[in-house]
Amino acid sequence: MKLAVIGTGYVGLVTGACFANLGNEVICVDRDRQRITGLNRGQIPFYEPGLQEIVHRNTQAGRLTFSTDLTGSVKRSEILFIAVGTPSTPNGKADVSAVIAVAKGIAKAMKPKTFKVIVNKSTVPVGMGDIVTKILLEDGVKKDSFAVVSNPEFLREGSAVSDFMSPDRIVIGASDNRAFNKISELYRSLNAHMIFTSIKSAELIKYASNAFLATKISFINEIASICERVGSDVEEVANAVGLDHRIGREFLNAGIGWGGSCFPKDILALMHLAREHGYDPQILDAIHEVNNYQVDAFVGKIEKQLKNLRGKKITVLGLAFKPETDDLRDAPSLKIIDRLISKGARITAYDPVAEKTAKKIEKQLTFCNKVYEAIDGAEAVVVATEWGEFRDLDLEKVKKLMKKPVIFDGRNIYNPKRMKELGFSYFGVGR
Ligand SMILES: NC(=O)c1ccc[n+]([C@@H]2O[C@H](COP(=O)([O-])OP(=O)(O)OC[C@H]3O[C@@H](n4cnc5c(N)ncnc54)[C@H](O)[C@@H]3O)[C@@H](O)[C@H]2O)c1
Repeated sequence: MKLAVIGTGYVGLVTGACFANLGNEVICVDRDRQRITGLNRGQIPFYEPGLQEIVHRNTQAGRLTFSTDLTGSVKRSEILFIAVGTPSTPNGKADVSAVIAVAKGIAKAMKPKTFKVIVNKSTVPVGMGDIVTKILLEDGVKKDSFAVVSNPEFLREGSAVSDFMSPDRIVIGASDNRAFNKISELYRSLNAHMIFTSIKSAELIKYASNAFLATKISFINEIASICERVGSDVEEVANAVGLDHRIGREFLNAGIGWGGSCFPKDILALMHLAREHGYDPQILDAIHEVNNYQVDAFVGKIEKQLKNLRGKKITVLGLAFKPETDDLRDAPSLKIIDRLISKGARITAYDPVAEKTAKKIEKQLTFCNKVYEAIDGAEAVVVATEWGEFRDLDLEKVKKLMKKPVIFDGRNIYNPKRMKELGFSYFGVGR
C-alpha cells in the first residue's frame, strides 16, 4: 500500500520504517527541513536501537523516502498517518495545533474521487477524530472520499522497533467499514491481536493505558515511602506483590518517578479532559502529586546527607528518562539536576547516548563522555537512569575515585547490603 506518515519523530519514523519493512511504499513527511535533509543522507535524528538498520535497508530498497512536501505526499498516498507531537500547554491541556495544521494541509491536498484513510497515531484528546473530520468537510472535501481512524501507538522508546513489530494489541477506532478493512489489512502480517472500537474509545484507550502504568509506578513509590518509615524493603515487597498475576511485577519499580515524552503530558491531558467534562480525577491528581513528591524527597535525602551543597561536585549517572533512549523530555534527572544546581552544587553528568540531546537543553552542566572520569572527585553519585552499564560498574574503582563514597540510587539498581560491605554510604528509594 502507499502510505504517508506525517511527523517523522520517535513514532513517525519508526512507524514509517516498519511499514516499509512490511513491503509498503512509505513517504515520511516532516516540516523540519534539517531533519528530512539528514534522513535523506542516512542520518537518524535520535537514538533508537535497531532503527538505523531498518531505515537504511528500506531506503535502499526504495520503499522508504523522506520529504517536506505534504501536498505531494498526500496526493500519492492512500493512507495518511498523523504522527506529530502533542505536547502540554501550560494548563496541562494537550496542544493539538500540529494535528490541526496537518489536517488542514491534508484537506488542501485532497483530490475528489479518491478515497483516503486519515489515521491519527498521535496521542490526542477524545474528540480529535471529529475535529479532523470537521476540518476536512469545512474545506470542501467530500464526505465519502475519506474516513478518519484513531490508531493510537503503544511503542516504547528504547524498544520501539520490536514493540511496533510485535505489539500486545493494535487498536483501530473507526466508524467506516472501508477504513476498518484497510487498516486491518495493513497490519495483518503482524499477526497481532486487533481491537476494533469507536474512534472515541480508541482515543481514550491510549490515555487510560498510560495513566494506569503511571498509577502503578506512583503506587509503588507510595509504598516505598511507607517502607522507608517502617523499615521494610520496597524491592522485597514489589517482588512478592508482583507475583500475583492479577497485579504483575512490571511497572512496580520504586524510584525518582515517571517522566519522559508521554506519561507527564498524557496524565495532565487526561486530567484536563476530565475536568473539561465536569469530573474531578482524584486518582490522577494523587499519582501526579506522588510523582512530584518523589523528586522532592530524593533531593531532600541528598541535602540531608551532604548538608551544604554549595560548590560540591555531584555526578549524575544517566540523563535520559529511561535506558536505551536519548530522549530527555520531562526526564526526572533534569528536575533533580535543576534543584541541585539551584542549591549551588556543581553537576557532572554521564549518559551513554544522551550527550547530544543534553547539550541542547542543559547549560550549567559538565558532560563527561567517560563514566569513570565523570565520577572522579565526586562528593556524591546520583543514579538517575537504570542503564545496564551502571549496574556493571567496578564499584571498588568507583569508591577509590570518589572524594566521598556516597551513592544516591534513584533507580534501586544496587544491593544495599553489598554497597554497605563495600564501604559506601548508600541511599536507595524505599529500602
Ligand atoms: N515517543 C513515544 O514514545 C510515543 C509513544 C506512543 C505515542 N506517542 C505519541 O505520538 C505522537 C508523536 O510523538 P513523538 O515522540 O514521535 O514526537 P516527536 O516530537 O519526536 O516528533 C514529532 C514530529 O512531528 C513534526 N511536526 C510537527 N508539526 C508538524 C507539521 N505541521 N507537519 C509536519 N511535521 C510536523 C516535528 O517536526 C517532529 O519531527 C505524540 O502524540 C505522542 O504522544 C509517542
